[in-house]
Amino acid sequence: MEISKVGVVGCGLMGHGIALSKQLARAVEKGKAEQSDVDAVRGRIKPTLEYSDLVDCDLVIEAITEDLGMKLEMWREVDEVVKDGATFATNTSSLAVADQAAVTKRADRFLGLHFFNPAQVMPLLEVVRADGTSEEAVKLGFELGEKLGKTTVAARDNRGFIVNRLLVPYMLDAIRAHEEGIGSIEDIDTGMKAGASHPMGPLTLADFVGLDTLASIANVMHEAYGEERFAAPRTLEKLVSAGNYGRKSGRGFYDYSGERPTPTDLGI
Ligand SMILES: NC(=O)c1ccc[n+]([C@@H]2O[C@H](COP(=O)([O-])OP(=O)(O)OC[C@H]3O[C@@H](n4cnc5c(N)ncnc54)[C@H](O)[C@@H]3O)[C@@H](O)[C@H]2O)c1
Repeated sequence: MEISKVGVVGCGLMGHGIALSKQLARAVEKGKAEQSDVDAVRGRIKPTLEYSDLVDCDLVIEAITEDLGMKLEMWREVDEVVKDGATFATNTSSLAVADQAAVTKRADRFLGLHFFNPAQVMPLLEVVRADGTSEEAVKLGFELGEKLGKTTVAARDNRGFIVNRLLVPYMLDAIRAHEEGIGSIEDIDTGMKAGASHPMGPLTLADFVGLDTLASIANVMHEAYGEERFAAPRTLEKLVSAGNYGRKSGRGFYDYSGERPTPTDLGI
């Protein structure tokens, strides 16, 4: 099926990247795109607050809050209004694709399309097949990835797919290492950058992901796998309950109010 109209539900960190809106201005500033091209792309993006505007989309990708109840409620409503034959995809980091597919009348045309943050920059797209996902829907996912210039990998519908299955326990362990006094926030980050050639340290990365989102993912994975390494550390829970969600709220493991991020004093 030809994809000519894509709907993106949710416009937070991920949704705005998938829909590319304000990143376009930055591309012009950096000389990577002409203003006329950007105007043409922007002209094709239509913001809306109504699910009914998704009616004639060929593909709907959700990027709303990592909360199963919220996602199920949204899919039930969206499924009612979007045309038959359209494909649905979830950008979830940890929830089961199959659970979301099950509340729609198109489980065969429902798959996981897991973009990475920032979606307009990071090359990877995980294409996730749930038990009921058809061959055609999986093919559509890979073709979309190719059109977007992404590197695609196939992943099973397990909690966290490939990358978060490995990356989330690593970030949680970095938080525990700080709690145990093994290193300061900055030293843990510097250690992993200079010692393992990571582009950013795990605590900076956690702030970048969003600490509320990371805590939700940890809770889902802890429940699914039953292993302590997936449990949200106390410091993460404390930061989230204080509304410190990382970069997007201005404070997390670092304070982003100044010219450069400074480590937060967590009293450890
Ligand atoms: N942050 C990451 O690094 C990352 C990476 C890959 C995937 N994801 C996944 O993408 C999804 C979104 O994550 P995020 O980081 O963008 O979160 P976010 O908190 O930045 O944004 C979520 C947005 O969804 C909106 N929203 C909630 N319910 C809605 C509804 N019913 N209809 C429309 N909008 C609704 C919220 O108002 C918010 O703006 C989650 O499933 C997350 O697991 C996140």
